[in-house]
Amino acid sequence: MLTIKNIYKSFGNIQVLKDINLSIGNGEIAAIVGPSGAGKTTLLQIAGTLEKPDSGSVIFNGTELIGMKDKKLSAFRNRNMGFVFQFHQLLPEFTAQENVALPALIAGSSKRKAMNKAADLLTQLGLSDRLGHKPAAMSGGERQRTAIARALINDPEIIFADEPTGSLDSANRKEIQDIFVDLRDRLGQTIVMVTHDSSLAAIADHIIEMADGHIISSPITQELEEQEIEMAEISPEESLSIVDSLDSGRNGSEDLIGDRVEKIRETVD
Ligand SMILES: Nc1ncnc2c1ncn2[C@@H]1O[C@H](COP(=O)(O)OP(=O)(O)O)[C@@H](O)[C@H]1O
Ligand SMILES: [Mg+2]
Repeated sequence: MLTIKNIYKSFGNIQVLKDINLSIGNGEIAAIVGPSGAGKTTLLQIAGTLEKPDSGSVIFNGTELIGMKDKKLSAFRNRNMGFVFQFHQLLPEFTAQENVALPALIAGSSKRKAMNKAADLLTQLGLSDRLGHKPAAMSGGERQRTAIARALINDPEIIFADEPTGSLDSANRKEIQDIFVDLRDRLGQTIVMVTHDSSLAAIADHIIEMADGHIISSPITQELEEQEIEMAEISPEESLSIVDSLDSGRNGSEDLIGDRVEKIRETVD
């Protein structure tokens, strides 16, 4: 669904992202975790085309988004991507229903259709009695659920969420977590989130751990690295003979080696 290749980003002379490579699969929840300042928000913003990298690719269902003209990109983002931020970013002078309807209106939907769909989504998220409330008259949890409804209104292919539970108490954190699980399990919604909330991270299918502008662990990166090491170090003939010698001397304590042998066999085959 989303592939990020060789992304570099600096602010002034500080390099914030250094050769980031990442793949997000359709229907998965991915969690970007790591210490403050690691570059998580910057990566999420680049993946969501809200920020431009210095170099590299962001490929969304086969379409390269880097270099797309701003106007076309905004329209693309509006149709395909939903965003949830730590601080809801709802417009204070509009009601919940109007806030949710806004991206549909921007996409060209009629007011009637947009307002109806907004009401449906808010109802699904337990806010049927809050349609006419302005953000200031709602609780933090209600505002964040409204922000999720807004992110969903154009049926986005992907939702980006930056610390979506960062300013909530534990009951409201749990609610957001349940909503994300439900969106994935029921609708196959793809979600990429940055989070410090360990129970929210625990629902992810894919954890991307960042430190100092690098991805330090991600299942995909790890696999690639292992394969590269095997390819680089050992020729097929050599590996066959290693496999034979290891196999003959194998015992129970050598499970790790055994796994490695299996990998080499696959590579050789
Ligand atoms: N717009 C910006 N201008 C200058 N520096 C920035 C900007 N955005 C982020 N940074 C810097 O980039 C680094 C990574 O920030 P960020 O991506 O927000 O990290 P995280 O979300 O992991 O805490 C930090 O050192 C931060 O100060
Ligand atoms: Mg951040």
